[in-house]
Amino acid sequence: MNSDLPGFYKMGLEDRLNEIKKIAHLTDEETNSLRTGGINWQTADLMIENVIGTTKMPIGIATYFTINKKDYVIPMAIEEPSVIAAASHAAKLARQGGGFTATSTEPMMIGQIQVIGIDDIRYAEKMVLANANNIKKIANKNDSTLIKLGGGAKGVETKILETERGRMLIVHLLVDVRDAMGANAVNTMCESVAPYIEELTGGKTRLKIISNLAVKRTVKAKAVWKKTVVGADVIDGILDAYAFAKADPYRCATNNKGCMNGIDAVMISTGNDFRAIEAGAHAFAALNGYKPLVKYELKEDDLVGTIELPMAVGIVGGTTKTNPIARIALKILGIKTARELGEIAACVGLANNFAALRAMVTDGIQKGHMKLHAKNIAITAGAKDTDVYVVAQKMAAEGNVSVSRATELLKELQREETEKTGNE
Ligand code: COA
Repeated sequence: MNSDLPGFYKMGLEDRLNEIKKIAHLTDEETNSLRTGGINWQTADLMIENVIGTTKMPIGIATYFTINKKDYVIPMAIEEPSVIAAASHAAKLARQGGGFTATSTEPMMIGQIQVIGIDDIRYAEKMVLANANNIKKIANKNDSTLIKLGGGAKGVETKILETERGRMLIVHLLVDVRDAMGANAVNTMCESVAPYIEELTGGKTRLKIISNLAVKRTVKAKAVWKKTVVGADVIDGILDAYAFAKADPYRCATNNKGCMNGIDAVMISTGNDFRAIEAGAHAFAALNGYKPLVKYELKEDDLVGTIELPMAVGIVGGTTKTNPIARIALKILGIKTARELGEIAACVGLANNFAALRAMVTDGIQKGHMKLHAKNIAITAGAKDTDVYVVAQKMAAEGNVSVSRATELLKELQREETEKTGNE
């Protein structure tokens, strides 16, 4: 696969789809699914409650990504213009510094069991730890497939919490969930070990549930943006922007949202639980006071960006089977493991953060964003068919992208059209 696709965005819609069809060896059925959109009405009714319909979101391809020396074209589902352009732009610039590198931990999720009403909490804690093997054995009776694949409950940890409702023992069940997101497997295991934990502790278990703060399932990704490629001013500006985000939670929230623009778009296209990823990312960023997910530093005049965050993603289970678009997105990525998907998503988050900061320290975010938002604004003003492009192009050229300007331009077009028809 070669993701070096200059001008991909200038191709027509059909040509673009055909290019990806060739690259990812998609079938006609798969390209038709991409044209018409994913989950059908009847399937939707099987997925959630009180269904009345489905909704669609555009999927685009981020180009230029090379990660651990392998090229990827990356499907991103998002309603916001400029995010995919931004990711591709950052990846294009990073490519000249060798692209992205990424590593990840084993896919270990944490399940929490809350135990209350214990008389001797220190003794109870010792009992749980002394019987960790039995707890794991009970947990592992639930999921023979996971065990066959090398996953399953691998560890038990404890902590005592002082809370407004008294002392509580919290038991953490560490579960290797392999290529699943893991919520169902972990929750089932936590519920199955609860009676034994009550026996061991003499307490009562309350919550038995996965934690989205998946600190044992993280990804680290890195890229180098060379001074010779992006310029000393951009590097200086990004370092100032990073210092601002480190010092100010108001800025930091928006900074981290910029990473999640890209990460969520990969999660949605691949049918993953983006709420879990969001919760994990922000909780991780807040572990020692809320901080930027991406760190920047200067190395030999070049800018090095590093992102680290929990990445509870799956390529099996969940809606990955029911949502045909999710299956196609995974095929386009050409990946075999959930870890690889997590590494890709982290690189996209890093790319989006870099691109947004680069834009803000140069032209300002609005220039690129509004240029790409112009078509939406033209549609909002009532433009249809080719008028959308004409109005959008004029607004972008004038640097005035607004509904009022689009309405004026549309009226002008309609006047010209009437005069033309009158003359004929
Ligand atoms: N559609 C898709 N990709 C686009 C694009 C478009 N309209 N315009 C640029 N790109 C990508 C392409 O990969 C392009 O490389 P290519 O021409 O070899 O295919 C690469 O960006 C560089 O193109 P260039 O014309 O130099 O980009 P630019 O300097 O005009 O930048 C943006 C345009 C949008 C990419 C840039 O302003 C940006 O990154 N802005 C940040 C937007 C952002 O962060 N938005 C989210 C928060 S609001």
